[in-house]
Amino acid sequence: MILDGRKFRRQSLRGRRRMIDPEGSNLDFQRTGADGELLDLSDAMVEQAVGYLGLPLALAGPVTIDGNDVMIPMATEEPSVVAAVSFAGHLASKHGGLVTRAGEPVMVAQIFLEDAGNRGSDGVDVVLAARDDIQKRLEPILSSMERRGGGWRGMDVRWIAPSRTLAVYLSIDVRDAMGANLLNSAAEEIRPFLEEITGGRVLMAILSNRSWVRTATARLAVPVDALGRSGFDGAETARRIVRAARVAREDPDRAVTHNKGIMNGVSALALATGNDTRAIEAAAHAYAGRYGPYHGLSDYWVEDGMLHGSLEMPLPFAVTGGAVGFHPATRWALDVLGRPDAPGLSRIAAAVGLAQNLAALRALVSEGIQEGHMALHARRLAFDAGARADAIGDFAALIRKEGIRSRDEAARRFRTWDGSDG
Ligand code: MEV
Repeated sequence: MILDGRKFRRQSLRGRRRMIDPEGSNLDFQRTGADGELLDLSDAMVEQAVGYLGLPLALAGPVTIDGNDVMIPMATEEPSVVAAVSFAGHLASKHGGLVTRAGEPVMVAQIFLEDAGNRGSDGVDVVLAARDDIQKRLEPILSSMERRGGGWRGMDVRWIAPSRTLAVYLSIDVRDAMGANLLNSAAEEIRPFLEEITGGRVLMAILSNRSWVRTATARLAVPVDALGRSGFDGAETARRIVRAARVAREDPDRAVTHNKGIMNGVSALALATGNDTRAIEAAAHAYAGRYGPYHGLSDYWVEDGMLHGSLEMPLPFAVTGGAVGFHPATRWALDVLGRPDAPGLSRIAAAVGLAQNLAALRALVSEGIQEGHMALHARRLAFDAGARADAIGDFAALIRKEGIRSRDEAARRFRTWDGSDG
């Protein structure tokens, strides 16, 4: 069943305010979360499982991406991340939405050989000459991927002079998968043949998470007039956003934090859909250093009264394989997203990363980010003090109104609270 994320509404459900689908689709998913079942699920997913960790799962949006209104499932422990995507996504959506593109889902495996001819070029030539043979030998492993339109995309060989190592690169289109299993199987399958033809010994064979072909881009444009905040008019806010992004391009210390904000959105979507967050993050940060110094991944400029933003980065998202589609929450998340293919999900991730970044920059160059965080901090204090369900919001409002800052103070005040927000 493909779910229409836009139907989800914030409603009171069994005394709790949250996003629900009036047709009840997410209740089925909630039922899958019975304790015993989640323990078994943990046991099936990792070794020596002792429990499971529940993270907040939220729906950001709707965000208009390539003309479709999309609700974005996000799993994150960090406050403000969902609100940021919703805010900037809404802003962009009012002005044509985000426009995205994605590259082909091609991944690379590397096989490293030592003692494969000390001059290097001998080994390179030998392996290059065996290209057709190598492709043929991998046919059994790649045949099902070939049937799905993916499979063999080529081969390359390099001599890594300092370590006197021969590196063989296999390029494989993995379609909707992340590709690690397929790439690693192909690389291991071809090991003996490479040893035979080069006379060398395989040091290791593994996919590369660099994922440079698997990039996605997102772009947006919003009128500068819509950006004003906290004493800064729209034009000034836009000018400051452009400058802040430029600082992130030029200063690695700032760039790391800038990109961390982008990953706040990307990784939350990755986690909700069961994707390998570490693979995506490693690829993103490597890409940010591709010109030498580490730099910010997004770019902004003002033209004809509009603030334009763009983001390009590797986003090797999968929609099948591993935890994706195995964990029930990930099936639900993919249903909410309308069952995209892997490049489609990468495109959504690019849009989420850019929306997150725009919201963070706008807050940073105007009132700062602490103001937004304080609202959520108050909700945590309310929860710690004992408030539950709808009372969390009401007591948090009182905490903010009375300027309560500590847990002890909040707990004391909760004991005398009459249930109103003052
Ligand atoms: C916090 O998790 C993310 C930000 O620091 C990102 C940024 O500085 O651009 C707000």
